[in-house]
Amino acid sequence: MPHELEIIKSTAAMQARARELRAAGKTIAFVPTMGYLHAGHLSLMEIARERGDILVASIFVNPTQFGPGEDLDAYPRDMARDMALLAEVNADIVFTPEPDDIYIPGFETYVALENLPNRLCGLSRPVHFRGVATVVTKLFLIVQPHTAVFGLKDYQQYVIIKRLVKDLGFDIRILGGPTVREPDGLALSSRNAYLSKAERESATCLNRALAMAAQMVTDGIVESNDIIARCEAFIKEHPGTRVDYIAIVDPDSLADVDRIDRPAHMALAVKVGSTRLIDNRRLNE
Ligand code: PAJ
Repeated sequence: MPHELEIIKSTAAMQARARELRAAGKTIAFVPTMGYLHAGHLSLMEIARERGDILVASIFVNPTQFGPGEDLDAYPRDMARDMALLAEVNADIVFTPEPDDIYIPGFETYVALENLPNRLCGLSRPVHFRGVATVVTKLFLIVQPHTAVFGLKDYQQYVIIKRLVKDLGFDIRILGGPTVREPDGLALSSRNAYLSKAERESATCLNRALAMAAQMVTDGIVESNDIIARCEAFIKEHPGTRVDYIAIVDPDSLADVDRIDRPAHMALAVKVGSTRLIDNRRLNE
């Protein structure tokens, strides 16, 4: 029997509720999302569930993390279905603010990191991580969690949030949840809903390229450029694909790693038709 899900719409009410919960000695575990929930989001809820007394999820399609010409208006939404799924995973509270309650009239304060956004996805999405860092900071101040869970699927976002929490001195533990995938390896994403049948078939090339790269490392290939070139050629064989980037980076600094003689993480972004998909994995341990 799923229990009652408390829906809180205003930032003031959410902040008051968080204050009350903390005063009562409860710990708050938080999973921020943009909704259109899938099994990847729900896996983070399960992790959070174990880490706090009260599980708070947020659903907010954050306008500032979409660039001009990106899919803000088209971004899939289904509040009723999301609420049912949240009740099923026994979430306690869902916070669903309106844009003008987060970005109040006259809003002009943003949170921006100096370096981590200037690579990988940040290169083709120049305002994206400023929007993410700003909204996550606001959500942390409103929800006041002890723990927050983010998906490793968005690896650069995860690294940026960990840095932000350290830099601003938030007393919040950040956990990363493993990427949940379709049986054929495609990482679950709300944007998979955009794919046509043919594009959906091509989309498996992202995870297959990552697996190929890990195998090359196991086989002793050490030059990142060789690995990247082979992955790029492999992806190009798939109809409708266009590589945005393929990179092999240090797992913490996200700086390029030229030779795989240290920890290395591969990240890639590929346009399949007009849908931009991302994936990543560690190449060695
Ligand atoms: P959204 O894309 O809705 O994702 C919410 C959370 O779910 C993120 O932490 C993301 O990494 C995680 N996630 C997405 N797909 C996943 C998968 N297949 N397996 C595991 N986790 C997955 O990321 C955002 O929203 C926004 O940028 C947000 C952090 C909410 C700020 O607006």
